[in-house]
Amino acid sequence: MKANKIITTLSKTIDVKRLKLIGVFTILSIIGTGNLVAQTVWLDQLDLSAATQGFGSPRKNKSVDGRTITIAGKAFDRGFGTHSESSLLIQLDGKATSFTAQVGIDDEIKGHEPAVEFIVYGDKQMLWSSGIMRLGDTPKLCSVLLTGIKRLELVVTDGGNGNYYDHADWADAKFQTTGVTSFPTVSLVPSEPYILTPVPSSKPRINGTGVFGVRPGSPFQFLIAATGDRPMNFSAKNLPPGLKLDSRTGLITGKLSSPGTAVVTLTAKNAKGKAEKKLRIVCGDRIALTPPMGWNSWNCFAGEVSADKVKRAADAMVKSGLINHGWTYINIDDFWQNHRNSKDQTLRGKFRDENGNIVPNSRFNNMKSLADYVHRLGLKIGLYSSPGPWTCGGCAGSYGYEKQDAETYAQWGFDYLKYDWCSYGNVAEEILKNNPSKVSSLSYQGGDNLSVAIKPYKLMGNYLLQQPRDIVFSLCQYGMSDVWKWGDSVNGNCWRTTNDITDTWTSVKSIALAQDKAAAWAKPGNWNDPDMLVVGTVGWGNPHPSKLKPDEQYLHFSLWCLFSAPLLLGCDMEKLDAFTLNLLTNDEVIDVNQDPLGKQATCLQTIGDLRIYVKELEDGSHAVGFCNFGIEKINVSYKDFEKLGIAGRQKVRDLWRQKDITTLNTKTDQLNIAVPVHGVLLYKFTSPK
Ligand code: GAL
Repeated sequence: MKANKIITTLSKTIDVKRLKLIGVFTILSIIGTGNLVAQTVWLDQLDLSAATQGFGSPRKNKSVDGRTITIAGKAFDRGFGTHSESSLLIQLDGKATSFTAQVGIDDEIKGHEPAVEFIVYGDKQMLWSSGIMRLGDTPKLCSVLLTGIKRLELVVTDGGNGNYYDHADWADAKFQTTGVTSFPTVSLVPSEPYILTPVPSSKPRINGTGVFGVRPGSPFQFLIAATGDRPMNFSAKNLPPGLKLDSRTGLITGKLSSPGTAVVTLTAKNAKGKAEKKLRIVCGDRIALTPPMGWNSWNCFAGEVSADKVKRAADAMVKSGLINHGWTYINIDDFWQNHRNSKDQTLRGKFRDENGNIVPNSRFNNMKSLADYVHRLGLKIGLYSSPGPWTCGGCAGSYGYEKQDAETYAQWGFDYLKYDWCSYGNVAEEILKNNPSKVSSLSYQGGDNLSVAIKPYKLMGNYLLQQPRDIVFSLCQYGMSDVWKWGDSVNGNCWRTTNDITDTWTSVKSIALAQDKAAAWAKPGNWNDPDMLVVGTVGWGNPHPSKLKPDEQYLHFSLWCLFSAPLLLGCDMEKLDAFTLNLLTNDEVIDVNQDPLGKQATCLQTIGDLRIYVKELEDGSHAVGFCNFGIEKINVSYKDFEKLGIAGRQKVRDLWRQKDITTLNTKTDQLNIAVPVHGVLLYKFTSPK
């Protein structure tokens, strides 16, 4: 103990005076006559891959972008460059005496008013905090004594600005130890995939939504999604006039000429049996009555998307069987248009023809035939634009051509438009006329001014409504001006509530925690969109298996279902592994998302790091997610059912395992709950008849 103190004081003095330490594994001093040898262990000598961070991989001795770590002009040779929010757990087991570092925001980050806070926790107690730091702040010295500490956590928060892509540095970071030369870093969540969804029966089951909205006169396309052995025969009782069913494929097409509701009984039959399900067809002014389900090209292909890749994604949607679980849309994101200054010649060409019609780039060419191809598979197709002159990636946007673009999309046969704010913040005609290439792609300018924020969406929303086909309108402006409060008024069907997601726990967690404020505005035809699913092989042009651990993926998917979020896969559809496929084909879990009541779950109770989300379902039952956001396994004997709005006798079903687990009396009984770290139990509570 005495020796430790001496070492601590000694090493602190050394840090403060900044004496140059010799060598990588430097032996500092030998105290007294004993064989206790103090060591300096640099943070960058540890395995940093266990760190979770907002985006990308942790960097050793470099900034996030791979440059020399630099804070307010001061360069450092060593350290850990990380994207906020970030967390690194280090198992010290009492063998460290102190930790020191110089912390701050790296000079390489620009824009968006970066802010972070560095926090050091020892055995869950806060030992040190930097306070909020901003770009340009001089490095702060972090110096903590660690004697007796078993587990250390180095955290970088978002500094309250909600961004998880600020660049933070733990520069010159090192430990003084009692003699050990390294420490293990800890990943708390097991990485071994495990399967929960039972294999679907060979008998028919009709899956997917039970309610479908269409506008009078619009082309009708609805595929009866069903699992079970093929061949399968489909029939429909009470199908309104104007619609016809292909009994072999289950595809219903046609047109309804007047408003009204029809309750149709769908039947699917195969050699093993028969299934029935009611479908409510609502012909009126609202569409997307349940959250859209499908795929979007951005999170896997980003700027590398092409018609061929889109077709292959559509083929894979069918071949993988996902189509039989209700997965429907194949959405092209940015980069189907020509680019303003890309070196890639496949993206260069006229933005518009002589009549002002948007021209797809050479990778796409014929958008109508692509749409036909996707429709022939029983799927639907979407695309992407910006109300500004440029998309976020720098391709041609719709500014000034909104009406024409809406008409073109309809003529091509598109069913979905994602409309991304991007350069709209820079809409200043003079600048554009004089020098279009000076306009930056992404700007949040004006987004906090309600009338400016609404204007471009209202314009496009109206034009889409005038088209002779239903086009789901997806607003993408990252939640500015509380879009959930006015999205419906501009004919929006869904709207992003938060910034872009990445495949990291910190990203998923911070997005998930930001959803409750918008929940009250979710309803059939209007969905809060926490961004796409980061499961499977993702990577924005740099494909890799999602960095989310299996439990994190179960939690991510469960939450998105509880949130009634659009379910848009962002992965390479040709690389669906068994785990991912299993995760995406649990019909009882998907039913929570597609429930026709259209409510969004909110967190009704927290017990430590356990957050309990509850979603009311149309049949009076409740879907409940017991979600562990913490870093320890949670075991609870749960009895606060009243707080969840659940009363009386209840049957409890585990939806992931598709198994009834108990029937209980909410007044007298308890439910034993064990939730893994970053994991979930998704239960359905139903009053037995
Ligand atoms: C972002 C948007 C992403 C993707 C990207 C394309 O603004 O949030 O989802 O669409 O633009 O450039």
